[in-house]
Amino acid sequence: MLIDGEFINSKIIDEYKSLLMSRLDEKRYRHSLCVADEAKRLAEIYGADPCKAYLAGLLHDITKNATKEEHFCIFDAFGITLSDVEKNAQKLWHAISGAAYVKHFLNIDDEETVSAIRYHTTARADMTKLQSVLYLADFTSADRDYEDVDVMRKLVDKSEDEALLYALDYTIKELLEKGAAIHPDTVSAYNFTVLKGKNL
Ligand SMILES: [Fe+2]
Ligand SMILES: [Fe+2]
Repeated sequence: MLIDGEFINSKIIDEYKSLLMSRLDEKRYRHSLCVADEAKRLAEIYGADPCKAYLAGLLHDITKNATKEEHFCIFDAFGITLSDVEKNAQKLWHAISGAAYVKHFLNIDDEETVSAIRYHTTARADMTKLQSVLYLADFTSADRDYEDVDVMRKLVDKSEDEALLYALDYTIKELLEKGAAIHPDTVSAYNFTVLKGKNL
């Protein structure tokens, strides 16, 4: 497995899996393996690097089970300041802390891989292929069973942009129903995808 010219061998992958097992509950660990497989599959369809996609998928939720204290330790250590929307949405923290964790603690310095993890919850406008692959793989991994998962699975095989629009629409509707704030990156991602569809 190659990342920026460096060989990522199966021993390192096994070490990452052991680390994940120690950090995550069983369900989240299985989810990470499923997202890794799905990200690799989507990367092959969309033309992203399948090795980076697998690695990003494997590690994307590495801080998902971290305590509040661990999150704040990571934010403090790496000078990360949360916006008001982020402060009020703990679900978003693990993408921010996870990107910092893989960069600084696992020494993964491939920006593409780190930024795919960084934006896997909110998405953002004009995502790279790898960002888009990870964002979508998190919706369609084999362990997912929400109501619209079959629609999403058909869409990811049909069209990356249609799948992105559906996923963003689904996320925004869910947040609106809960009366929750919508992260500006998610709004930008939605607007960018809608306008791209209209060829503007
Ligand atoms: Fe996540
Ligand atoms: Fe996830």
